Amino acid sequence: MRSVTSTSKPNASVTPPRQTEVIPKLTMNDGYEIPMFAYGLGTALYKGTAEEIVPLATMAIKNGYYHLDCAESYGNEAHLGAAIAASGVPRSELFVTTKLRGTKKQDVNAAFEKSLKRLGLEYVDLYLIHAPHLARTREEMQSLFREKNLFNKYDNQRLTPDILAQWAQMEQIRASGRARSIGVSNFLQEHLEAVLETAQVPPAINQIEYHPYLQHGELIPFHREKGIAVAAYAPLTAVTKAKPGPVDDVYARLAGKYGVTEGDVALRWCLDQGIVTITTSSSEDRLQGYMNKLPSFKLTPREVDEVAQLGRQKHYRGFWKNHFADDDTR
Ligand SMILES: NC(=O)c1ccc[n+]([C@@H]2O[C@H](COP(=O)([O-])OP(=O)(O)OC[C@H]3O[C@@H](n4cnc5c(N)ncnc54)[C@H](OP(=O)(O)O)[C@@H]3O)[C@@H](O)[C@H]2O)c1
Repeated sequence: MRSVTSTSKPNASVTPPRQTEVIPKLTMNDGYEIPMFAYGLGTALYKGTAEEIVPLATMAIKNGYYHLDCAESYGNEAHLGAAIAASGVPRSELFVTTKLRGTKKQDVNAAFEKSLKRLGLEYVDLYLIHAPHLARTREEMQSLFREKNLFNKYDNQRLTPDILAQWAQMEQIRASGRARSIGVSNFLQEHLEAVLETAQVPPAINQIEYHPYLQHGELIPFHREKGIAVAAYAPLTAVTKAKPGPVDDVYARLAGKYGVTEGDVALRWCLDQGIVTITTSSSEDRLQGYMNKLPSFKLTPREVDEVAQLGRQKHYRGFWKNHFADDDTR
């Protein structure tokens, strides 16, 4: 990322909305800094071929996207590794995240070693448990998989990983230095509370779907109270997948006011709350646009609040939908 110097030093416990002069790094509860704007290799690049992904990811890195968000389940860690090598950017300047497939029972250390090998790296900056098993009870999980007719593919054992045992193994990986920070993704408050009860090292961050139409009730304040950083995926949802909606007019007005796109406003809305923001694009123009525009403006606290208030009038979840009732806003 080009502009990482900042007059403000966000940390995981700031009270929203927090304004920043440029796109900074956020200091996590373990003392490591994370660039607040990231390029993701899930969604659009999910399980693509090397021919498709290596040039795109290399292009993103060359345009200053130094925080790279990958996962075992995306099937493209090796492609990201190739892009890192092709970019010529020193490893020490990059922030690489990958994730343990959290929804099946597996040896965490073995899975992590395979990820490192595919990435061609000696360490990652951040290793996440991709998801808790999100059904509340074993019975709910079973009926979920019965509905999707997945019982032939998975056995019960693999469906019920023990989050606490997984976290203990994550702590060992961190202690070995092969992952500098460890965290979680898609965890609800109940999952975080369970982990915090036995954790020697608390999660540094929770990566969740976050946009005006999915603000998760009290989950963000809970993170701040516990000093756990938040990373937002799908931050452009109100601009891309969930239109029309109640924030359309205010996004358009703010885009006009600041001379930016509605996408820039959507990303800035997350950043100005002290939330690490993960987007992706196959368009170099779009990626360059974000890098040029995002440091050039910030939303006022009133504007951040206005978007939040309007956003609460609609509920939209784009990911992991099978694990939630339609009206579940957690
Ligand atoms: N932990 C998890 O469970 C989880 C789940 C989902 C995602 N993620 C991570 O978060 C990353 C980003 O997720 P996301 O893709 O949902 O983020 P997003 O920033 O909300 O959406 C990015 C997508 O929006 C498109 N887009 C941008 N501006 C647009 C416009 N004006 N009109 C129409 N389309 C537009 C982009 O396509 P173009 O190529 O056209 O720009 C791109 O495909 C993923 O790659 C992954 O790394 C994690």
